[in-house]
Amino acid sequence: MEKLVVATKNQGKLREVKALLADYPLEVLSLKDFPDLPEIEETGSTFAENALIKATTVAKQTGLLALGDDSGLEVDCLDGRPGVLSARFAGEPVSDWRNNQKLLALMAGIEPEKRTARFRCVVAIVEPTGQSYLAEGTCEGRIGYTMVGDQGFGYDPLFIIPGLGLTLAQLDMASKNKISHRSQALKQAIPILLSILKR
Ligand code: IMP
Repeated sequence: MEKLVVATKNQGKLREVKALLADYPLEVLSLKDFPDLPEIEETGSTFAENALIKATTVAKQTGLLALGDDSGLEVDCLDGRPGVLSARFAGEPVSDWRNNQKLLALMAGIEPEKRTARFRCVVAIVEPTGQSYLAEGTCEGRIGYTMVGDQGFGYDPLFIIPGLGLTLAQLDMASKNKISHRSQALKQAIPILLSILKR
């Protein structure tokens, strides 16, 4: 069976990828299976660059098919910030709570219809030859005025899904995964993986 190395140590992400690829003839591994590989620096200025850096590095180092992803929040009234800097928006030490507070402070006084935002995720698939492919997914919403809900992570407590009137932090994992930017991007990546497997 062909092996696919997911360029992450995050067990939540790995579970999501494994669930979406469960029906396909792929043995899904992660960086946990290659503990000696050096830390990968995310030096790109776009989600695509960072996803490619992760997948290319891992494909090169393992000689196996690799999948990397990068994601973040784009807020329209902040010209797309925090974007690729989402994880470290409020600086070190990295803290979801401080990131959310910084976002709320920057958006104080902005009316509801101007609080539109989206999560974006880019998935890169890279073959050991260096051949690469990209897939992308988005999840549209708007930023609330206070943090609501205790599930999920990151900016979920501020991210309201308009059709539901709930934040992502109020959804259980299965419901979030159905609409998330990551699952949309991974679903787009499945035909790419299948075409590689057919060769
Ligand atoms: P990464 O793709 O794991 O590097 O995610 C970068 C950052 O984007 C995270 O640390 C979060 O701050 C934010 N982010 C990405 N996906 C989500 C999500 O599904 N919910 C909330 N925040 C997210």
